[in-house]
Amino acid sequence: MSHQHIDKKIETKLEHKYSTLFKLCHMMSYERDLNTLLDFLVKKSADVVDADRATIFLFDEKRNELWSKVAMGITDIIRFDARLGIAGEVLQSGKIINIEDAYRHPKFNPDVDKRTGYTTKTLLCVPMKDINGKPIGVLQVLNKKEGLLFTTEDGEVLEIFASHAAIAIENARLIGELEGSKARLQQENVILREKTRGRFFVSNIIGTSPTIQSIVKLIEKISDSPLNVLITGESGTGKELAARTIHYNSSRFEKPFIDINCAALPESLLESELFGIEKGVATGVEKRVGKIETANGGTLFLDEIGDMSLPAQAKLLRVLQERKLERIGGRSMIDIDVRVLAASNKDLKSEIEKGRFREDLLYRLNVVHIEMPPLRQMKEDIPLLAKYFLTSFTSELGKGAMSFSNEAIDCLMKYSWHGNVRELENEVKRAVILSEGDVIEESDLSEHVRESRGTACRAPTEGIHSLKETVEEIEIRMIKEALKTSGGNKQKASEALGITRQGLIKKIKRYGLS
Ligand SMILES: Nc1ncnc2c1ncn2[C@@H]1O[C@H](COP(=O)(O)OP(=O)(O)O)[C@@H](O)[C@H]1O
Ligand SMILES: [Mg+2]
Repeated sequence: MSHQHIDKKIETKLEHKYSTLFKLCHMMSYERDLNTLLDFLVKKSADVVDADRATIFLFDEKRNELWSKVAMGITDIIRFDARLGIAGEVLQSGKIINIEDAYRHPKFNPDVDKRTGYTTKTLLCVPMKDINGKPIGVLQVLNKKEGLLFTTEDGEVLEIFASHAAIAIENARLIGELEGSKARLQQENVILREKTRGRFFVSNIIGTSPTIQSIVKLIEKISDSPLNVLITGESGTGKELAARTIHYNSSRFEKPFIDINCAALPESLLESELFGIEKGVATGVEKRVGKIETANGGTLFLDEIGDMSLPAQAKLLRVLQERKLERIGGRSMIDIDVRVLAASNKDLKSEIEKGRFREDLLYRLNVVHIEMPPLRQMKEDIPLLAKYFLTSFTSELGKGAMSFSNEAIDCLMKYSWHGNVRELENEVKRAVILSEGDVIEESDLSEHVRESRGTACRAPTEGIHSLKETVEEIEIRMIKEALKTSGGNKQKASEALGITRQGLIKKIKRYGLS
């Protein structure tokens, strides 16, 4: 064979080697599963330099150890100090090591051979570094085939292989982490959704009064239907609670429940919030998906619908009629499937008379009507509600069981609760936090709530008082009240108190009331 011929042969062999290497590098970047990738890398790295076997040692920075899962032929994990052996040396120095006779090398650690029953003769070890040049491990091939030695060229090929392998490993690890957190988030989401749903079982609408019971029955009946519902009632009567309960008891419960408070937004913003807007409709306007679109497939809760502007009402009506929506500045129609629940504390009929609400929209929304009663009309449910909130707050705060004194319950029942159930809920929350014992006394309640029960509201927590002090305090309070109702007229006040005018004047002087 001529020299030229041999050169040609070597050249084609080399070309073949590099194109194989190129293909392998390409392939490894597609593998997303770390274990599969490591298997692949170990097998192919041995092939690429005609070695008998290969091992990848990954660097565990926290423990400063090198470890290997996939030493071919070994199933368990090998771990050792990251400063030990040839692998340790390569990791620390970042430089390739090519050994002709392993057992005569001072750094060679024969422990692995002992465990595997393998005999290492020749050894080539290259570092693996991430994009920033930080070592992530080493790649080691053993025993070149046919008893040959690893060449300089083998070293170069293996280094190229290892630098790609390092990036592929880092990517697979990142993807693994991302998938792990995605799975965790999904699981959390399922748990949260279950929890949320649990909070809106029909049984969480508390009340034994006939009004509440008939509302509960109605909600059970209509929840799983496509009917739109209008919920009216004063603020704090449970309109939103009713709406959420309907949604979570319908077949749409796994789809979004989107609420929007029509009173909270100025007219101009409400429309883009509801219908969405295309990018660039006005300067600086970003594209925004509207709440109706977000609620698609689920439930849209329009709170304080009485405050919606007439143009927005017209647009909403069109969406409900056509089941299609066009974003502001948009050019195409989007199919819409939402169930609408609306709430209002205004009398919509009189709003219609005043020309502020569309009658045709009311008919669309008011397919089913639920009227939440004010709390003062269901006084018999006050103790039940108060105890319900007491139990839920104490458990929320990790407190032991608590109860109300009879006087406290009496106060709660006599008060007029213009803020309805919400106000009662807040009152109980306040009392739970303020009360020192496990019984909520009258004195733990707010002053205005206590006043509803009349005069006998002494606060024992203010300390021990003598009979005289107590009597004086009650006298002062009664005199003040009498003067207030009589508008400062001492004659009338004394009559109301059942004492003489003179007697009243004396007391006023004594207590310094004037
Ligand atoms: N019947 C009820 N049973 C239990 N909790 C209620 C009841 N009615 C109202 N609530 C509670 O009172 C608070 C106010 O209710 P909400 O639905 O926000 O009232 P609204 O929307 O009518 O202003 C909420 O915390 C709600 O859970
Ligand atoms: Mg509300």
